[in-house]
Amino acid sequence: MHTGAYLALFALATRSFATTQQPLQTQTFDEGVRTTALQCCNALEDILTSSTILYPASSKYSAQSSTYYSLEQAAQKPACRIAPATTEDLSRLIKFATATRCEFAVRAGGHMSWEGSSNIGPNGFTIDLGGLKEVELKDDGKTVSIAPGLKWSEVYGFLKPHGLHTVGGRSSGVGVGGFLIGGGVSFLSTEMGLGSDNVLDYEVVLADGSIVHANESERSDLYWALKSGSTNYGIVTRFLMPTIPRPQIWGGSLFYHGSAGPRLFKQLATFTDRLKEDPHGMSAISVAWSPEMKDYAIWSPNVYLAPQAYPSPLFDGLQDIEPFQSTMRVADLGEITDEVDMLSPGGRNSQWFSVVFKNDAELPWDIQLKGREIFEPYHDRPGAAWAITVQPINEGMIAAGHKRGGNPLGLSVEDGDQLLLLGCVFWNDPQDSAVMKAKAQEYIKAATELARERGLLNKYIYLNYALDTQNVLESYGAENLKKMREIKSKYDPDNLLEVWKGGWKL
Ligand SMILES: *[C@@H]1O[C@H](CO)[C@@H](O)[C@H](O)[C@H]1NC(C)=O
Repeated sequence: MHTGAYLALFALATRSFATTQQPLQTQTFDEGVRTTALQCCNALEDILTSSTILYPASSKYSAQSSTYYSLEQAAQKPACRIAPATTEDLSRLIKFATATRCEFAVRAGGHMSWEGSSNIGPNGFTIDLGGLKEVELKDDGKTVSIAPGLKWSEVYGFLKPHGLHTVGGRSSGVGVGGFLIGGGVSFLSTEMGLGSDNVLDYEVVLADGSIVHANESERSDLYWALKSGSTNYGIVTRFLMPTIPRPQIWGGSLFYHGSAGPRLFKQLATFTDRLKEDPHGMSAISVAWSPEMKDYAIWSPNVYLAPQAYPSPLFDGLQDIEPFQSTMRVADLGEITDEVDMLSPGGRNSQWFSVVFKNDAELPWDIQLKGREIFEPYHDRPGAAWAITVQPINEGMIAAGHKRGGNPLGLSVEDGDQLLLLGCVFWNDPQDSAVMKAKAQEYIKAATELARERGLLNKYIYLNYALDTQNVLESYGAENLKKMREIKSKYDPDNLLEVWKGGWKL
């Protein structure tokens, strides 16, 4: 067995989407009548000066649609797709859309799984941030200003010749905008906190179209809220991030048979605990059902931020568990983020969800076993697959967030080390969507219950992995939610951004 066999696990379905041609409507703007999405698109043709506006009949529209991570998102057909090339054009766009109540969705990297999170049907249009791709070193290279339409691969590629890196995604194909507006676990997070904890300044287009900055000294309330702002406050057009010297690292992937699960999860619990002694590592355990192998397989991406193999004490004991394949080597950190991306391709119907619980050696495997009961009866459905990926939210990560001005997440160092579980469910046939979604719901409930029964459940739900049915913002706690709502009423008092669909609303 080789890496390819594991890759096949995530069988990349390359599908194209038939485009249905929609006739251009000829209605005019009637006062008092809600403008149709197509009228909005047509009107914006005259207002925007540097945007690409694509309609369903065009091949570019199809090409843009096909790059969503999840098939369900790709299959949605907004009246048009608008890609502003400047912040000023985006500002004009937002001002018009909120004033005329034109509904829209916003897509940066398009990696979120659930339908409607960053795309919309024919009753709205989609703002594609793919035209905003500036990246620029500032402050003698101490910071980097990053536009939301970039993928982390592009940011890392830009920083590499300067010998620099930043607190970005572990999977290089993920987009900047969504990652940083929902948290963002990085290979550096065990020491430095989430990606969003590290943002120094936001340039953001507010509901009324105004372009403002939010940072520790100016609009510090908005700055705090934007660290997990979802679709409530505005569209961020620049993130200012600190750079760090690019480390030579030891990292890669370890692949195991499913039977190694219980030992690997014990190892992960020890690893998470030992991050107190040495925070320079990151590890995750992903157990997946492979329809190709007809078996469970385990992928464990690991990184240590120095060119040192199996450093003690963090990785002590790991070598005793025999992988069937290893790509662990001394490498550039960017290489590892490309590897992670290659091993987690999209192109299928998918549902992701988040469950967080106290660090524990047994619970993750018991949750995996619970998943077998729920999903095994459906393994014969085309492309049906599911996985859980478990990773540390260590005390150091939580403390780093507080140290950097705090965030709305409601995580407390006193709660101790936590584990973040990402659940993934995949299928190919849209006819199976109803049943697979119901199974995903059943699994969220079962996993949450199991954690609760054992007194290990943490109410926090990680936004970037969450399903639309999960109450992400409520999970931050009543006090933080209240504060977020107050900040919302200050910066968007009339809730004009109600027309921005997708995300979690206050
Ligand atoms: C914070 O915002 C103010 C006001 O827009 C701006 O002048 C300043 O440069 C910003 N600070 C940082 C660190 O970007």
